[in-house]
Amino acid sequence: MQRPEVEFIQFDKRNMNVVDQCAELMSISEPWNTLRRTYDDAVKIITDEASEVHLAIRGDEMIGFAIIKMQGSFVGYIQSIVVKSMHRGQGIGTRFMEYLERRIFSEQPNVFICVSSFNQDARRLYERLGYEAIGELRDYIVKGHSEILLRKTVAPLSEFWKLKK
Ligand SMILES: CC(C)(COP(=O)(O)OP(=O)(O)OC[C@H]1O[C@@H](n2cnc3c(N)ncnc32)[C@H](O)[C@@H]1OP(=O)(O)O)[C@@H](O)C(=O)NCCC(=O)NCCS
Repeated sequence: MQRPEVEFIQFDKRNMNVVDQCAELMSISEPWNTLRRTYDDAVKIITDEASEVHLAIRGDEMIGFAIIKMQGSFVGYIQSIVVKSMHRGQGIGTRFMEYLERRIFSEQPNVFICVSSFNQDARRLYERLGYEAIGELRDYIVKGHSEILLRKTVAPLSEFWKLKK
């Protein structure tokens, strides 16, 4: 039997059952194990007022989620993205990133994302999608590991706002 198509949707954070599933997934996945993020930390991040949460759904299963920030200084920031391990390597992460980019580029000319210095696989994926490293935040989350800030842009701010008018 063919597997159902993957859909991407914005998530209503009041559904605590899904919050629980997302927090559980994050707390058992790398890079967050190395970064010492607990289940409770994950619940806080997911339910934060400024977090916009999007889900990857296959059939009636949540197979991945992402958190983006559409307010603040580095607006258009993808704070986290994860696909369940058994669904990885099938192009879902790539399509999820493209979906998030459509959401962010509809309002902002930049997408920002951080990748841990030890997460070379994810970094390769982002660079293939056109992200450029713009800085290294040493010992940012835990000592001994950096976060690399990456950016993808469609226009300078001034031109983007002129086109938006
Ligand atoms: C990064 C991630 C979201 C990509 O999703 P995906 O569905 O596997 O992505 P795709 O199938 O579209 O692309 C696969 C690419 O992602 C890379 N990748 C990164 N982490 C991977 C992992 N744990 N397993 C499989 N592929 C992974 C693969 O190396 C592959 O690149 P390659 O073809 O150059 O080898 C997913 O692997 C994941 O959830 N990883 C763990 C959490 C994580 O690292 N999140 C990013 C934090 S910045």
